[in-house]
Formats: sequence, C-alpha cells, structure tokens
Amino acid sequence: MKLLLTHIKELLQVRDNAPAKLSGAEMNHLPTLKNAWLLVKDGKIFDYGSMTKMPETKGFKTIDCKGKIVLPAWCDSHSHLVYAGNREQEFVDRIKGLSYQEIAEKGGGIVNSAKKLQQTSEDSLYKQSAKRLEEVMRLGTGAIEIKSGYGLTTEAELKMLHVAKRLAEHYPITIKTTFLGAHAIPTEFKNNKDGYLDLICNEMLPKVAEQQLASYVDVFCEEGYFSVSDTERILSEAKKYNLIPKIHVNQFNAIGGVAIGVKYKALSVDHLEVLTDDDIAALKGSETMPVALPSCSYFLSIPYTPGRKIIDSGLPLALATDYNPGSTPSGNMNFVVSTACIKMRLTPEEAINAATINGAYAMGLSETHGSITKGKVANLIVTKPIPSYGYLPYSFGSNHIEMVILNGKEIKQ
Ligand code: NIG
Ligand code: FE
Repeated sequence: MKLLLTHIKELLQVRDNAPAKLSGAEMNHLPTLKNAWLLVKDGKIFDYGSMTKMPETKGFKTIDCKGKIVLPAWCDSHSHLVYAGNREQEFVDRIKGLSYQEIAEKGGGIVNSAKKLQQTSEDSLYKQSAKRLEEVMRLGTGAIEIKSGYGLTTEAELKMLHVAKRLAEHYPITIKTTFLGAHAIPTEFKNNKDGYLDLICNEMLPKVAEQQLASYVDVFCEEGYFSVSDTERILSEAKKYNLIPKIHVNQFNAIGGVAIGVKYKALSVDHLEVLTDDDIAALKGSETMPVALPSCSYFLSIPYTPGRKIIDSGLPLALATDYNPGSTPSGNMNFVVSTACIKMRLTPEEAINAATINGAYAMGLSETHGSITKGKVANLIVTKPIPSYGYLPYSFGSNHIEMVILNGKEIKQ
C-alpha cells in the first residue's frame, strides 16, 4: 500500500537524523516543513519534501491535506490500559472529601481493581481493554506501553500480560509491556509484605521472563506501598531476566526512588509530582527519562510535576497518560499535551516533543517511532484544518484530529 499526503500545511517533527531523545535545552525547537508532501510505503515513512518539488504520484493513493497539519502519532509511554470494571464510586467518594490515600486504606484503590480483575475472564478483560485501545488509537496514539499490576496474583498478573500480548497481535498500534507485580500489597499479604516480595521474585518474575511477556519492570515506590529497599530488591532480581526498570516514583512523597531508578539504569522514572533538588541532581547525566502524567494530577487534584523546572534544569521530559481506573480514567494524549502547556507551563513545542520523540525514548522505540524520519513506522496524525500547531494545545477539549494512520493504514474514526 502506497500513500501520498499532499499540500500539508505543516509537517511537524521532521528530522533526517532523529536523536534518541531531546534534552531540556533542545525541546523548545520543533522542526517543521511547510507546504509539504509525505510518502508512505509498506507501512513506513518513505520520503517527504516541499510541494514545490512533487514526486511522481502514479500508483499512490493521494490524500489532500490542504490546511491540515501532519505530525507523528503520540507515543504514550505509561499506561495501565488493561483493567477490569471501573472505580466510579471512588471518584464520587473523593468528591465528597475522601483522599486517594484514605480510599486505599479502606480497601479501595488498586486492590479493589485487583479483586475485580481476578474475577474477570481473560476474554472479557480482552474485550474491555480492546475498546479502550481502539479509542486511544482514534485519538492519535500510535504506540503505547501497558503495565500489569491489577492482578496481584501470579495467575492474574500473567492474565493481564497475555491480554496485552493479544492486543499487540491484533491491532496496528505498537505495544510495549511492563510487569508491575509490585503495584500494591494484596490483602492476603497485608501483614506479610516480604511474603509478597518473595512471590514476585521467586514465582512471578521467572514466569513473566520465561513466557517473554514483558520488556520492562515497574514498582510503585511510595509510602504505604513499596519502600526504596523493596524496590531495590525487585530491580536487582529483575535484572537477572534483563527486564529494564520503568518505575512509579515521587507521586506523593520523595523517598529516594529516583536515585534508585538511576542506579539501576531505569529507562524512565514516572510521576515526579513531588520532586526534590536531590532528585534532579540524581537524574543529571543519566540516561533515565523523567515522565510527567498531568492527567493524573488533574483527576486527583494533586500537584503537577514541575515540568518547567525539569526542562529548565536541562533534563529531558516525556509526557504520558497513566490511563488507569483509579487515578486517570482517560487515555487522551491530546488532553495531556494541552494540560502540560496550561498547568505545567510547557510551550507547545516542548509538549509536542515530550509526547512524541521523548515518549518514544521512554518506551524503547526511538529507532522506529516519534518523528517524521525516513524508515520510521508511518504512524501519523492528520488534523482538521486548524490555524497552527499551537492551536492543538490552545483549543483544549475539542477533537482536532481528522485522520489517524498507523503502520501506513488509516484507522476508522
Ligand atoms: O500510576 N500510582 C500508582 N498507580 C497508578 C494508579 C493506580 C490506581 O489507583 O488504580 C498511577 O497513578
Ligand atoms: Fe501509573
């Protein structure tokens, strides 16, 4: 299948030699090509150029993009998209005054989702998750990371990862999977956290590795969940299976998880709503990508990750959704980009870079995703006619997407 997009008002994120990631100093620049064409062949970006020098169009399906902007599809490097049911009741409880932590202490939260998921068949879990995946594809996401962590038993954790694997086989979106057995302490292990850590290390990790169900390992490093030393135990055990860390740190408290992530060469450290100068110092000079999840802050009414400070300190930043039933029941990357501008004071250029090229890095896809580069996967967003790319985050809450192309094929809107 050959596609030719013509008369593109502005082609964003055009990079002949795309770097793996952009530092804070580089993020304010978004390379664009005005009045452009883009050629897609065999699911890949084949070529692009200016309309003043049009290629031969014979044999190509042509799409007229007059007045429209084309950009690489979003790379959502942090999600919990595979889950069962919802937690609408907890949403109402929070409106009435309970905090996220108080709800968790009452047996709600992650263990509540785990109970539901354990009782859900693999087929039903697949169907519920597929519906969400189809929605995020329509919203312009072309690559997504999916975590386990709502199983909390070996069987249910494997079930979640099997569902993610089936989704990856069935849909054109690129999926990377992460094992998050250490998401919460299951009720049965309430007074025996070490027993649960033993289960993760001695049973879950070997099975996940043996069945090749995940590329990454995650831990919710937080007071009331897993301590820094618990995190260290899991990361060092996971290293034996070549599972690279991508961890939840500093959502509510800064307890030293960032430095541990860096020590274990984490690909990313995610959340960072509470970030100390020591955390920033630990990240300096590392290969670890800080990831902000502004929709989570929005939904839980907690502080926003100091994205401006992270970028101003020279560190790179990626943006992701955190799509999950408890803290972020939304997988909309357009909202994430907008919220990062509005609430974290990122410029449109910085936010788009954070949600494409740096997002691709945070999920190990720099080689293939995140920019308009020859040979990369043809995952594209075509907008409706809009005045400029800054209009995307500016005009929040509206859907500006006209067409999404994944692996060179159009997704039904
Ligand atoms: O990233 N913080 C830990 N995990 C999820 C939320 C889990 C839940 O509430 O179900 C998050 O926000
Ligand atoms: Fe998360």
